[in-house]
Parts: sequence; structure tokens; C-alpha cells
Amino acid sequence: MKRIIVLVAALFSAALVPQIAGAQASTPAGDPVKGAQKVQMCQGCHGIVGWRTAYPEVYRVPKLSGQNAAYIVAALKEYKSGDRSHPSMKAIAASLSDTDMLNIAAYYSQTPLTTAAQ
Ligand code: HEC
Repeated sequence: MKRIIVLVAALFSAALVPQIAGAQASTPAGDPVKGAQKVQMCQGCHGIVGWRTAYPEVYRVPKLSGQNAAYIVAALKEYKSGDRSHPSMKAIAASLSDTDMLNIAAYYSQTPLTTAAQ
């Protein structure tokens, strides 16, 4: 009897695992560790609390840390597509793949706002 239970349990989990793996693949989540490797190029502007850019005009740089991941991805896609226009951000977003955007968004959404890392 015990053997049958083990067999049924093994069959059940074997049938379930591919479904779980499939569900994860269809809703990709960013990797914050990979995101951290990409944010050096963002920190020059987004890394200082209250920082303002001087180009193309004096402009307050919005904070990214603690920001919602979906919001960050949506914003980057809008800069890339031209739906949002800002020359520096358009150039930066154009250099990022969809995976880069997810990873960066995962990093920033999980990094609390401090004075050291915005
Ligand atoms: C040259 C300075 C500069 C660099 C470098 C830079 N940004 Fe930005 N970013 C800005 C400015 C200025 C804005 C606000 C523009 C606007 O109002 O549309 C902005 C806006 C954004 C926004 C929208 C935020 C919001 O609250 O709506 C996101 C997301 C963003 N940047 C992500 C990034 C990422 C990710 C990187 C690095 C890959 C990066 N930025 C690099 C200057 C910069």
C-alpha cells in the first residue's frame, strides 16, 4: 500500500512540475542581481537624492529606488518607443533589451531609498 502511495505521489509531482515551470516562463520576473550590474550607467543621474541634470535643461531627476517594477519597465519602454520624450532617457532606454529593463526594474524596486543609493 505504501508503495502505491509513493508511486502516485511521484506521478502527480512529475505531471505538475512542467506546468509550474511553464507558468513561470510566461510571467518573467527580473533578476535584481543582473540588474545591479546594469545600473552603473543610471547612477550618475539617478544615484544622488535631489540631483538635477543640466542637459538639455536644468531638470530634477526622479528617484528610482523603491519605485514599482512595472512602472519602471513601462517608463523605459515609453522612452524607447518615443511615447515619452526626454533625449538622455531615450538614448539610454534604446540601449536596453526587454530583459535588461526587467532586471533593472527588479533591482530598483527592491532597493530601499537611502541617501547613498537613490
Ligand atoms: C543623463 C542623466 C540620466 C541617466 C544617465 C539616466 N537617467 Fe533616467 N531619467 C533622467 C531624467 C532627467 C528623467 C526625467 C525625464 C522625464 O521627465 O521624462 C529620467 C527618468 C527616468 C525614469 C522615469 C521615472 C519616473 O518617475 O517617471 C526611469 C524609469 C528612468 N529614468 C530609468 C533610468 C535607468 C534604468 C537608467 C540607466 C539604465 C537611467 N534612467 C539613466 C536622467 C537620466
